[in-house]
Amino acid sequence: MPGVREGWSGAAGAGGTARLVFDVRRLAGPTTLLRPWRAADAGVLAGAWRDPAIRERLDVPEPADEAAASRWISQRERAWAGGRSVDWAVTDTPSGVVIGEVGLSRLDPVRRAALIGWWIAEGWRGRRRASEAVRLVLDWVLADGPLDAVMAEIDSDNQASAAVARRAGMRRVDASRRVAGGPEDAPRLVFARTRTSAGSR
Ligand SMILES: CC(C)(COP(=O)(O)OP(=O)(O)OC[C@H]1O[C@@H](n2cnc3c(N)ncnc32)[C@H](O)[C@@H]1OP(=O)(O)O)[C@@H](O)C(=O)NCCC(=O)NCCS
Repeated sequence: MPGVREGWSGAAGAGGTARLVFDVRRLAGPTTLLRPWRAADAGVLAGAWRDPAIRERLDVPEPADEAAASRWISQRERAWAGGRSVDWAVTDTPSGVVIGEVGLSRLDPVRRAALIGWWIAEGWRGRRRASEAVRLVLDWVLADGPLDAVMAEIDSDNQASAAVARRAGMRRVDASRRVAGGPEDAPRLVFARTRTSAGSR
């Protein structure tokens, strides 16, 4: 089912420097709505950052408290507008509850490429919410949005996340390798999806 899209996106130049512009704020799937993070989400975000399953896989601020979450949320708008990163809160459509995050980072306006990352809160896992949310972003950003390629780096023992990448149409593109800068420089698998393969599984 196609996502509901609001806004416009493209590439804009500022002082001769290309910048990716993501003006699509909301993406809607059958059960999940992606929207920008709001100040009121800080408590949920801090709770997720304290979840050992998320801390094991992702870099989170320390201390992972509500003040840090508020700061992080308040920085999202500028990062989004500046083309540095784009972060959507994943919400459950019927209830409006925040259940996770999908974000694009390392945005490269020259190669029109980015990294994608995600998490789903405990209690909402195993319902294909991550798969739906990641697919919503990739379907839009590689069809009508400003990117030609999106990659994901996944710990080699994170089989659930690898399944999410595959369900969202990504393919493994590299042998297992170490990616410097990740938590403990763990071995990672690299997945990618490109504009030409958008929509494929
Ligand atoms: C990884 C994560 C995002 C998955 O979220 P989710 O909403 O439960 O994912 P989905 O329900 O969409 O899909 C999970 C898939 O993994 C599979 N899966 C779950 N646990 C698994 C396991 N231990 N081994 C193999 N596959 C597993 C499920 O069967 C499902 O695949 P299927 O749809 O083909 O049956 C969630 O567990 C999470 O946030 N973990 C902590 C943070 C994290 O790892 N983030 C990703 C960093 S790259």
